[in-house]
Amino acid sequence: MARFRVIADGPLDETVIGFAGADIEFLPWPSPTSDVPAPVDGIYTYGHPHVDGSMLDGLPGVRVISNYGVGVDHINVADAHDRDIPVGNTPNILDGATADTGLALLLAAARRVVEGDRYARSPEFLRYDPGYMLGREAHSSTLGIIGLGNIGAQVARRARGFDMRVMYHNRRRRAHAEKQLEAEYASFEELLARSDYVMLTCPLTEATHHLIDAAALRKMKQTATLINIARGPIVDTRALHEALRDGQIASAGLDVTDPEPLPRDHPLLGLDNVTILPHLGSATIETRRQMAEISIRNLLLGLRGEPLLHIVEP
Ligand code: DGY
Repeated sequence: MARFRVIADGPLDETVIGFAGADIEFLPWPSPTSDVPAPVDGIYTYGHPHVDGSMLDGLPGVRVISNYGVGVDHINVADAHDRDIPVGNTPNILDGATADTGLALLLAAARRVVEGDRYARSPEFLRYDPGYMLGREAHSSTLGIIGLGNIGAQVARRARGFDMRVMYHNRRRRAHAEKQLEAEYASFEELLARSDYVMLTCPLTEATHHLIDAAALRKMKQTATLINIARGPIVDTRALHEALRDGQIASAGLDVTDPEPLPRDHPLLGLDNVTILPHLGSATIETRRQMAEISIRNLLLGLRGEPLLHIVEP
């Protein structure tokens, strides 16, 4: 049987290649200087490469786009839909791991974990001093979640375990979740003004691009922390740098940035009150294995003209 020919942005992880087995021949991602020889049956997006209508028009044989991950802001889903090409993703399985990362960043920022680690290793650390490196309470504080979807709900459950008050803001209220998670609905402004920790778990869309800008940061408490486990461009990076530098907010924990990665000389990297991870939200062995499996199953189903396990609607 002929193998399906699929373009993918690599290098792909061994697990992905293992699930694909002998059915799929992975081809390199097209570049301005190198076209992929036809036919191409499918597209596999691994590290968020851009896919839009003009790319799809150049690959007329494509029957499916499968994304390794839940966020599909790098794919123009409407363009794919207009061309009857289903887009698959991997929701649900990564909610727990991503929520854990959110809490890790929250605690790291609150208790200055990374800064403390640097200090403990440095020659300056000569003796214990009860007055140094005081952080802020995480327990009994107020967490504001922007975007109470599946990941946001997992964050809320964990926060309740830390005796935190949970507020959330969504475009639509989620009455069931409010009851189940004891989460209080708030307007965007109210959430910013009342939260000790503001955590972003919403998708990146036109409406959420730069949702956290200079004006939003000004509405936050001076003692507050911003945590972003969603997508970098939801935050205006320049405004965030200024707010952290000028003490307008206390700290930030970022799993994602804009741009990603930040240029090595970016001023944000010079601040002690920000903890930055290299987009590790769902990066556990177990979750990444499931993401590989589901994304390859979506890919194979689409290549065979069958319904995907998870399809993204435009
Ligand atoms: C996601 O699932 O969207 C993560 O960013 C990994 O792609």
